[in-house]
Amino acid sequence: MLGAGPGDRGSYGDGASERFDARRRGDRSATLRRPPALDRAGRPRYAHGVPDLGRFISAPLVKRTALDAGYHVLQFGLDEALVALPGQFVMMRGEGWGTAPLLPRPMSILDSGRELSVLVKVAGVGTARMASCPLGERFELLLPLGRPFGALPAEHTAVLVAGGVGVAPLVCLAERLAQRGTAGVVSLYGGRTARDLPLVERLAASSTLEIATEDGSRGTQGRVTVLVERLLERARAEGTNVMLFTCGPHRMMAAVAELAARFGAPCEASLEAPMGCGYGVCLGCPVAKKAGGYLYTCVDGPCVDASVVDWTREVFA
Ligand SMILES: Cc1cc2nc3c(=O)[nH]c(=O)nc-3n(C[C@H](O)[C@H](O)[C@H](O)COP(=O)(O)OP(=O)(O)OC[C@H]3O[C@@H](n4cnc5c(N)ncnc54)[C@H](O)[C@@H]3O)c2cc1C
Ligand code: FES
Repeated sequence: MLGAGPGDRGSYGDGASERFDARRRGDRSATLRRPPALDRAGRPRYAHGVPDLGRFISAPLVKRTALDAGYHVLQFGLDEALVALPGQFVMMRGEGWGTAPLLPRPMSILDSGRELSVLVKVAGVGTARMASCPLGERFELLLPLGRPFGALPAEHTAVLVAGGVGVAPLVCLAERLAQRGTAGVVSLYGGRTARDLPLVERLAASSTLEIATEDGSRGTQGRVTVLVERLLERARAEGTNVMLFTCGPHRMMAAVAELAARFGAPCEASLEAPMGCGYGVCLGCPVAKKAGGYLYTCVDGPCVDASVVDWTREVFA
């Protein structure tokens, strides 16, 4: 079996970004290698044995399902079962792509096991190739990578806030929580229109779902943050503790992080930054921290404490 055993991520250490910053300042002794698996307090960074580096696998595309509005679910047949935790990702490219594009692309892992699946939204050349490649085409996959979502604290209700293609790691999380019998999980899902809600049925099957669309074609009219604010107000009035888990466009996650801070709710965000390598060597995935310096999305994330991020700094200028 490849990958992590079932379980939750350990505590959130920050040592990797300090070493990268030191290296950027010219300290040649600071390592560019993958950071050791201990945080600054000496605790394992990953409590349940998530490996430091993913594994390279070659696997054929066995199924492609086209959904509404240019979304596709790609499914790959693996020789061995893979276990990935919600929020982890895969770096992937077609073996026959030549140099266009040269670098693999990061995708959240939707389903793991003998069949690995990802949800793809066409954004540019790489995702367009993924969406149109023939069945049987082999892909290079490096996985599972990154820090998964953290554990739900005791006495807290999980509230998952998804926007567009950001739904993939949250479907994985909702289904994992449902498998474990976690009660009361709520998903708040937003899209521009009713067609921009891929995998909505899976979220509905594994959690209590509320929808918002900007044009009002499904659910509440407006942005998903309207639902988040309403839920946080209700939770405060009832004295319920909630923890937010969010993935979606940068501005949506910034607004969710701001609401979480205002209501004193813990919040984890799954960051999306362009990536070169996926395992901490190219320094191509920085996200600014409020306290100064950077998080590197691939090794410090993608799932991070949202209160640490400087959300005023756009990842895509
Ligand atoms: C951890 C992680 C998980 C991700 N999970 C998914 C997923 O499950 N499904 C999915 O469809 N996409 C996901 N993405 C985004 C995906 O990696 C990019 O859309 C993809 O790399 C774009 O490649 P491209 O060659 O098609 O586009 P390019 O030709 O490289 O770029 C086309 C346009 O897309 C923009 N772009 C490039 N990378 C990103 C990005 N990371 N986010 C937003 N815009 C981008 C560029 O600025 C440019 O405007 C994830 C990104 C990260 C970091
Ligand atoms: S350091 Fe290369 S993608 Fe993060």
